[in-house]
Amino acid sequence: LRPTHRLLSCPGTVAADVKREEQSSRNVETGSEGRTPKKKFSEVQKERREQAQRTVLIRCPNKISEKKFLKYLSQHGPINSHFFYESFGLYAVVEFSQKESVTSLQNVTRTPSMETEAAIPFKSRFFNLKMKNPSSQTSEQSCIQSSNHSPPSNKKLSELLCYAESVDDQLNTLLKEFQLTEEDIKLRYLTCSLIEDLAAAYFQDCTVRPFGSSVNSFGKLGCDLDMFLDLDEIGKLSTNKTSGNFLMEFQVKNVPSERIATQKILSVIGECLDHFGPGCVGVQKILNARCPLVRFSHQASGFQCDLTTNNRIALKSSELLYIYGTLDSRVRALVFSIRCWARAHSLTSSIPGSWITNFSLTMMVIFFLQRRSPPILPTLDYLKTLADAEDKCIIEGHNCTFIHDLNRIKPSGNTETLESLLKEFFEYFGNFAFNKNSINIRQGREQNKPESSPLHIQNPFETSLNISKNVNQSQLQKFVDLAQESAWILSQEDKDRPSPSSHQPWGLASLLQPSVLSSVSLAKKKRKKPASERIKNLLESIKSSSPENDTHTNGK
Ligand code: CTP
Ligand code: MG
Repeated sequence: LRPTHRLLSCPGTVAADVKREEQSSRNVETGSEGRTPKKKFSEVQKERREQAQRTVLIRCPNKISEKKFLKYLSQHGPINSHFFYESFGLYAVVEFSQKESVTSLQNVTRTPSMETEAAIPFKSRFFNLKMKNPSSQTSEQSCIQSSNHSPPSNKKLSELLCYAESVDDQLNTLLKEFQLTEEDIKLRYLTCSLIEDLAAAYFQDCTVRPFGSSVNSFGKLGCDLDMFLDLDEIGKLSTNKTSGNFLMEFQVKNVPSERIATQKILSVIGECLDHFGPGCVGVQKILNARCPLVRFSHQASGFQCDLTTNNRIALKSSELLYIYGTLDSRVRALVFSIRCWARAHSLTSSIPGSWITNFSLTMMVIFFLQRRSPPILPTLDYLKTLADAEDKCIIEGHNCTFIHDLNRIKPSGNTETLESLLKEFFEYFGNFAFNKNSINIRQGREQNKPESSPLHIQNPFETSLNISKNVNQSQLQKFVDLAQESAWILSQEDKDRPSPSSHQPWGLASLLQPSVLSSVSLAKKKRKKPASERIKNLLESIKSSSPENDTHTNGK
């Protein structure tokens, strides 16, 4: 269940913010990046988190006067920004200037009295607005303007790409259409903050942080919301605070292992979300995965959420990807296009299984950009050499040290165009020796595969793990075939590009056409495998899509 968000923009507030964002990202696109200092990942997280804590989510009646609504809420304090969106009903996200305003609003809010059902009381920041006298409102002209922020349809995308001026322009257009909007980002942080309020009923002082594509700069509209329940603040040792010969410790409950502790915590939080979480539905506890998690839908925001705990390394890899995505404006444009290309040809899927994941594709693009001459992205080992004492970080024995201040990383001298990089990407991976080599962004060079999985991409921090262990040979072969085919199409087009007036898909648009597949599948048909092998492959992929074997989430 993933409703599309229809965002209704409000002149002078968020719309203006978005415009500013767009302008600043345009600066990045024109290469004037070095001048504006870029924010550290931790700074962005801190600001957004604090903003979310001053924000409320309100389900509104369909007909509402925006002016009256804002006037009513301002009784509790000044409002910084607000926006409306539709997701099976009208919702408002309202950010107050001060946290106290939220408490003030909560103090005048009542728990509904039900007629046939019973309410479980919970003073959250998710409200329902009811009209005392609905008829007085209906005559008012609603001044809420509708603007749609769901990803474009295939048809619309194809049109936009056909009218672009160059392949570079096509890649940048695709990025602009699919990247998370300011409102979507705010809603993601708010959703985490609402879940944190619930988890705090058990673990006071806990933090729920978003990670993965919601924050690593590679998030596409509609992507899932990965959340990390951080209990470290509670567990932190307060050393040397007591004097004399006494040492105080909390009396705690012990369990045999860290993994069992994680499972118990997630089990309880899962129950809590299921029983008491306003708008949390379809709660599934997937506790036997390599990285245990609770999966649920947050109905009001429309996000599919994956909640984990004790997963600090994934937070670090999100930060690393954020650095890579922010360093050079070509990186995100290329990653988004490759992800869309993979999705268009069913190389990726929203169902876990033996498919390549977006995370693996991103790693492949980063690796490819490290291999350019001169390199467009530095290796992780190089980022480690730039680190200072503050950046030092060891998690569970794994060295996760790298520089956090983006402004201290020298920009690349490489001036290749996106068009040439796209073509080279397909050439590179269409001819990569996957049978013997492993992809490794730490060293930025191929290495011998340490194990026999068809595709080996080393986890940058837990170096003994393969992030694409789930991918089977036939999925890898499909990727290689399509990469070769796409490289060929682009090279043919160099010679004979259709004119824009012909309305023929060209450049990136022709790569996203399903027809690309036809010649590949034709070639495959010629060397079709025996039926027994195809059935075996099918069974394998069904087996690996069952929750217990959920390698997609296992690998997290
Ligand atoms: N992760 C990992 N190893 C894996 C899979 C995931 O370390 N084998 C971590 C990565 O930090 C990843 C995060 O878990 O970013 C979330 O995983 P997932 O939701 O699968 O990927 P996203 O990067 O969020 O991409 P998507 O947009 O497809 O959700
Ligand atoms: Mg994700």
